[in-house]
Amino acid sequence: MGSTLRTRLIDLFSEAGDGFISGQKISDALGCSRTAVWKHIEELRKEGYEVEAVRRKGYRLIKKPGKLSESEIRFGLKTEVLGKQLHYRDVLPSTQKTAHELANDGAPEGTLVVADKQTAGRGRMARVWHSQEGNGIWMSLILRPDVPLQKTPQLTLLSAVAVVQAIEAFTGVQPAIKWPNDLMIHGKKAVGILTELQAEEDRVRSVILGIGINVNQQETDFPGELQDIATSLSMEAGEKIDRAGLIQEILLTFEKRYQDYLNHGFTPIKLLWESYAVGLGNELRARTLQGTFYGKSLGIDDEGVLLLETRDGIKKIYSADIELN
Ligand code: BTN
Repeated sequence: MGSTLRTRLIDLFSEAGDGFISGQKISDALGCSRTAVWKHIEELRKEGYEVEAVRRKGYRLIKKPGKLSESEIRFGLKTEVLGKQLHYRDVLPSTQKTAHELANDGAPEGTLVVADKQTAGRGRMARVWHSQEGNGIWMSLILRPDVPLQKTPQLTLLSAVAVVQAIEAFTGVQPAIKWPNDLMIHGKKAVGILTELQAEEDRVRSVILGIGINVNQQETDFPGELQDIATSLSMEAGEKIDRAGLIQEILLTFEKRYQDYLNHGFTPIKLLWESYAVGLGNELRARTLQGTFYGKSLGIDDEGVLLLETRDGIKKIYSADIELN
């Protein structure tokens, strides 16, 4: 089945909710015969969808497949823009790399790249991001905001806020933000966000937001050196989490916060970010590529940059690893 037909069929089931849709209605909507409809349904079943067929009533979707797949992410996605252009692959070197290539080729705002496994996942400060198959969310989102370059740290903070809110709504677990956008639960890292830019002179061409979430890992799934510092949402919530459902929740929340930002500016996002942040007002150590600085955190400024009160005066920190003392 072509992916457009499959998407339309899944959309029809999504609109019908728990109800039945007649074979005739599907055949009219897809512009194909009743026999072709039956074949399309058989293909969905092969992908792991459970579809009930009842004479005179039609078809009803009972269950979506548990595994991550393109259809599963599309099914029931309620956003207007984010994720509507979706590139799903079982394996990629890095969704970030693919998103850069797509952005270069003119991919529109909201394009999302998702992989079940990354073989060369990248973290901040040129680190490796461990991206095993089957249990994480590894995705990159392309945005094309019309903002000057110096305002892009605001989008990093916006992403952290959106992901915190979506995780809270979907799993009941409440992560805290460690500047700029590590999401921590009980002091261990569950989410990392990597913001990269494509720019022309002083304007942004695209922002590529790479989001890595430890979702269904157990402690032994992490390499030894990460076991004391990393956690997963499932370890914290005590149950398995539907990755596709969480991706949809993140996209929807992200779209709302992004609209707030475009319509009302950074202040509402800054207030939310501060309400989720840990370590504001604390003494901390910031390891940057230019050196390590100690001082008291004064919070973030209106551009989203961290202000550190050091012995030599107030220092603006654009990118760093933070250790809370
Ligand atoms: C961090 O170091 O905290 C940021 C980690 C970002 C990881 C994500 S996973 C999806 C996307 N693709 C990558 O290669 N990296 C980001």
